[in-house]
Amino acid sequence: MTQDELKQAVGQAAADYVAQHAPAGSIIGVGTGSTANCFIDALAPLKDRFRGAVASSEATRKRLEGHGIPVLDLNDVEDIPIYVDGADEIDGGLNMIKGGGGALTREKIVAAVARTFVCICDASKRVEVMGRFPLPVEVIPMARAHVARELAKLGGTPVLREGFVTDNGNVILDVRGLAITDPKGLEARINQITGVVTNGLFAVRPADVLMLGGADGVSTIAG
Ligand code: 5RP
Repeated sequence: MTQDELKQAVGQAAADYVAQHAPAGSIIGVGTGSTANCFIDALAPLKDRFRGAVASSEATRKRLEGHGIPVLDLNDVEDIPIYVDGADEIDGGLNMIKGGGGALTREKIVAAVARTFVCICDASKRVEVMGRFPLPVEVIPMARAHVARELAKLGGTPVLREGFVTDNGNVILDVRGLAITDPKGLEARINQITGVVTNGLFAVRPADVLMLGGADGVSTIAG
């Protein structure tokens, strides 16, 4: 199977999971990226079973609305039984690096509300130790240089994502060269730097379920 076919397979598997596990009339959390897009397309035929969705980005909101799926403001939602999203890397503890698409902050907020986080990936995203993929850090623009210096002190090499502004009006520093042996500790440490909105480590709140698409089909791994 090609990588696109693997993404479609996990997107369909996640829609089946939602159909099976989310109570009728509930609100589904929806992530961002090419794999999440496959999930949205697979979810569309089931839209009458759900009240609507909460989107983790403007791009996702547009795609959901394009399918006629109502998109709710998170402030009007108390319970999200399931959040489905992709990842850039995921380890054996279901800790993730996210934010390749720049939506990390809203993704982390929706994940914080969700009861179950289902991560959907093709097998290339599964790693033993995270860090090959540069860690995205969302930063308030005026703090960019200060945050870059602080990230360098932690051993990383931050690079500004050129020409990119997040849905929240901020910039992204992509950090190479970090040794991510303690994902939870590093997530907390980077978030303490003044000017950081959040970083793309999802270890304090990892995934609960991983649906991994590989040559033998989709395997489901519970955390
Ligand atoms: C966006 C994300 C995405 O989930 C991540 O980048 C994976 O994207 P794709 O499914 O396109 O590989 O975190 O901010």
